[in-house]
Amino acid sequence: MPVEAPLSIPTPLLEVHNLCVSFPSRGRMIPIVENVSFTLGERDILGLVGESGSGKSVTAMALMGLIDSPGVQITGSALFRGQDLVGLPQKALRRLRGREIAMIFQDPMTAFTPVYTIGWQIDEQIRAHERLSRRQARARTVELLADMGVPDPARTADRYPHQLSGGLRQRAMIAMALSCNPSLLIADEPTTALDVTVQAQILDLIRSLRSTYGSSVLLITHDMGVVAETCDETLVLYSGRVAESGPTEALFAHPGHPYTAALLASIPPLDGPRPHRLPAIAGAPPAPLERPAGCAFGPRCTFVHDTCLNTPPPLVPTGTAGSPHQMHGASDQPGQFAACVLPAEGTPLLPRVGNAFSVNPAAPPSARTMTPPAPFSTGEGLP
Ligand SMILES: Nc1ncnc2c1ncn2[C@@H]1O[C@H](COP(=O)(O)OP(=O)(O)O)[C@@H](O)[C@H]1O
Ligand code: SF4
Ligand SMILES: [Mg+2]
Repeated sequence: MPVEAPLSIPTPLLEVHNLCVSFPSRGRMIPIVENVSFTLGERDILGLVGESGSGKSVTAMALMGLIDSPGVQITGSALFRGQDLVGLPQKALRRLRGREIAMIFQDPMTAFTPVYTIGWQIDEQIRAHERLSRRQARARTVELLADMGVPDPARTADRYPHQLSGGLRQRAMIAMALSCNPSLLIADEPTTALDVTVQAQILDLIRSLRSTYGSSVLLITHDMGVVAETCDETLVLYSGRVAESGPTEALFAHPGHPYTAALLASIPPLDGPRPHRLPAIAGAPPAPLERPAGCAFGPRCTFVHDTCLNTPPPLVPTGTAGSPHQMHGASDQPGQFAACVLPAEGTPLLPRVGNAFSVNPAAPPSARTMTPPAPFSTGEGLP
């Protein structure tokens, strides 16, 4: 009788568990990234989203082993195909960077030196990892540039970075990042400096990488619109902590955390009348040294109440089907979590309708009585 092969469970490409990054300041350690956990599957695109200063780049740089500030403390684990990147010696990290994990940045000028042609720099990157002649490396460079949609790639390869438009430079940088077929591409705000049309083209390109190059992507952005268009999974960071995570579609339809909901409320609606002004989130995230004891979003949250003030709320499943807290309108999607007391109190946010959100009117008074009348500043009256 044939023996049945055991069912193979796909192992994730990257499993980050309780990643913490702290920098020393005035004689003590300041946590900048706290207990960030996520899983990135093969060929998946995960969006890491949050306002400026929320710790997105520090998270990425920690994964790449690129933080060299004196006294920095990095704990937790980041298993890349089972190998922990945290604490890995620089020599081993250098071997992984470029070959297995590559990173692209907002400003392509940081990746290219101005004094060599684009082609020369991509050739060198290829030759650093593979035994190829100059001619073979150049053929590969031209092919990569063509794959990235660069017109006339052979001639473009002979140009200097400053001779290319922003969009072409970004394509060339992605070509360089992909030159050694990395399994993981970390893209830190890759479209922020580009105009909207070019941004859409670059996002198309990033989406296509999973089929053409088999790559998984960690896409860092402050723009929920970019996440909606591109990412399978979303992780919302606030003040260095995970505010919410889950499948993008579910998280956008049923945000479980008031911060996610507020970010979503600030995206222009696709249909219907355009609002005169989009709601903005009043206030600013706390400086790392001044984080409140409880929920870091508390000072800006319309739903804040006493329970939120003492300790940071843990991540809890939002509206898991069958839970005693399951309420009308909550997401049934497994894998969605929010660091907020509302789901645990049985008062999840109602699903998003247009750009508005509110708590369930059947909620116990604890979560309703404290809400100020207007959810967010509309920005009216600002210059
Ligand atoms: N090397 C460093 N030393 C001390 N603080 C840092 C360092 N790098 C970043 N930070 C602080 O970490 C916080 C998060 O920064 P960052 O990850 O760049 O934010 P984001 O990419 O989300 O805009 C900021 O408050 C920033 O000032
Ligand atoms: S309701 Fe409380 S725990 Fe939830 S986001 Fe607002 S302040 Fe934080
Ligand atoms: Mg950044």
